Amino acid sequence: MSVKNQVLKALEENKGTALSGEAMAEEFGVSRAAIHKAIKSLREEGYLIEAGTNKGYRLALESDLLSAQGISAHLTESLKSLPFHVYKTIDSTNNAAKNLALEGAPHGTTVLAFHQSQGKGRLGRTFISPANTGIYMSVLLTPSMDMSQSVLITTAASVAVARAIEKVCGASPSIKWVNDIYVKGKKVCGILTEAMTDFESGQIQHLILGIGINCSVEGFPQELLEVAGALEGDFSKNQLAAEVLNQLMPLMDHLEERTFIQDYRRYSMVLGKNITVYKGGYSETAQGRAARVLDIDQNGGLVVLYSSGERETLSTGEISIRI
Ligand code: BTN
Repeated sequence: MSVKNQVLKALEENKGTALSGEAMAEEFGVSRAAIHKAIKSLREEGYLIEAGTNKGYRLALESDLLSAQGISAHLTESLKSLPFHVYKTIDSTNNAAKNLALEGAPHGTTVLAFHQSQGKGRLGRTFISPANTGIYMSVLLTPSMDMSQSVLITTAASVAVARAIEKVCGASPSIKWVNDIYVKGKKVCGILTEAMTDFESGQIQHLILGIGINCSVEGFPQELLEVAGALEGDFSKNQLAAEVLNQLMPLMDHLEERTFIQDYRRYSMVLGKNITVYKGGYSETAQGRAARVLDIDQNGGLVVLYSSGERETLSTGEISIRI
């Protein structure tokens, strides 16, 4: 690890506390000048590092740039070795994760970006991703399952994000089927799952779980503000990203047990509600069908009763609900 990354790791692990430059130099086996150079370079990148005579260096509590070191400081021990790739700007973290998958990157590889120039949403839409206002992350997964079970992954991912938001931000999230997360009636997180499958067996080879969490609505176009919101309060983006992984990775290892379905129902904002179903995805011109949500089944499927009396279990598509 470079001296700069060693210094950042130490500062993130002791955020808000001053660390002596001399002690760091000794611990990392480098000169004080090398520590000073690392601090200078981190400051240039935007880290708020305070220094006082004989007090050492302190990463300010409000300093919250996403980084592997910042996230790692909040990860559970078994996840500390996950590979991270953090970009200032990129077209889409999902695209980057896909490329890494093709290069043989392992399960759990996580890509993050401060800004996405072509953030992708579901059904070919754009996901607006202004700089430093959100958490744009993609996790590469290699589950052993076929496409018919992929809705389980999406369901588990939304539970992981909802739990993380509840824990780190103290907010009360709800899930709009399949995987939009709402807080106070506004969408604060969207999830886009993309799979690469083996054509012959139908088995999933790689799955890219793309998670976009709005931490501010700065830079959002006016029309988006009708539906999109952001998480409020003094939380750390690094901690929230870490908690998403802390919640997500154990769920991925035990998907078949479906332990998260109970929480999915608890967080659901559509259970028992009247909705409109758009099978091919919502658009201004799409014709929806009125229905009532009866249940969410053990596979995350939405059991609906149409006004015509017909019953169906949906595993794809889009719904709308009056909030
Ligand atoms: C949706 O609500 O339609 C899904 C949005 C998913 C956005 C995330 S941001 C990180 C990852 N990279 C992308 O290009 N999209 C996903």
